[in-house]
Amino acid sequence: MSAIADGTAAPEVAVPSVDVAPGSVPVGWRHRHLLDVDGLSASDLELVMRTADAMREVLARPISKVPALRGRNVTILFYEASTRTRVSFEVAARNLSADVTNIAALTSSVTKGESLVDTVRTVEALGAQMLVIRHAVSGAPYLAAEIFAGSVLNGGDGWHAHPTQALLDLYTMRSRLPGGSVAGRKIVILGDVVHSRVARSNIWTLTAAGADLWLCGPATLLRGFEAWAARGAAAGRRFQVTADVSAALRDADVVMALRIQRERMAAGLLPSLREYAARYGLTRERLALAAPGALVMHPGPMNEGVEIAADVAAGAQSVIADQVTNGVAIRMAVLYLLAGVAAGTASVPNGASAR
Ligand code: CP
Repeated sequence: MSAIADGTAAPEVAVPSVDVAPGSVPVGWRHRHLLDVDGLSASDLELVMRTADAMREVLARPISKVPALRGRNVTILFYEASTRTRVSFEVAARNLSADVTNIAALTSSVTKGESLVDTVRTVEALGAQMLVIRHAVSGAPYLAAEIFAGSVLNGGDGWHAHPTQALLDLYTMRSRLPGGSVAGRKIVILGDVVHSRVARSNIWTLTAAGADLWLCGPATLLRGFEAWAARGAAAGRRFQVTADVSAALRDADVVMALRIQRERMAAGLLPSLREYAARYGLTRERLALAAPGALVMHPGPMNEGVEIAADVAAGAQSVIADQVTNGVAIRMAVLYLLAGVAAGTASVPNGASAR
């Protein structure tokens, strides 16, 4: 991040009027692609949050649609399964009046050996101007951005990054926490951290926004994060790592449980799912250690009874459904902001990479 928020005051940003074409009013957004959140400044984050507020207002209208992306093609290219991200990008693009093309790799020429580069060139030749891509290989959206003439949005790549998930998580916390800020709040990410692109992207946004971030899970699922936490602490970010679930949960303001990613897990990292659930599952008893009314979050999809008990997931403190709903507003916001840069009217400082 080029700037780390000290948590005392939100940066001043010029919020776009989303009823007019993106880029017609300069708002200071300079990124052509959204590949991760590590390149977003505190002002960028504030601009996304405020633009999402404007999109929430659109969503509350009797006809929840604006003409902002009329005539533009948004292509959604997913090489991995998805419910929330794929559908909410599609809904977001349609709410902005874009033309939407959906490609599932399993029913495309990928199954006949077509390379990622060839697929990206093909969808561009078919008219794609904004490309939302999910891939099992970390870095795949970066390769796509090297060759694609329009904007690339990362819908999740391997273990690496899930930028719109981190943005919608920050938005949900800001919407629900008293005072509307995560600054100084104790936020716990609990579970399979090592395989989680959601955790990696959330580390950037939450520490930039001044949260007191704790990562917790079995030591085998936290490997490498101690070194990152030490570097983060040296840079003024509040970020710690522990296998002690009681210490992590005590007085927490937000607890985000992560899915145990069996499909990415090597043998030997966990004795059994039953033992994981017994020692680290977010049960009502464990949640009672957190602050009264602490928010319960989960990026989904959930393994109920493993990382989170069904009654906690559906309980009064759960904002899991809000996360899904807010995903539409956040994805409308980032599509709108990136479209402004692609239109060539937003300011791109000399030498900026426009990433
Ligand atoms: N949170 C998330 O990425 O969910 P999906 O895999 O359903 O998109």
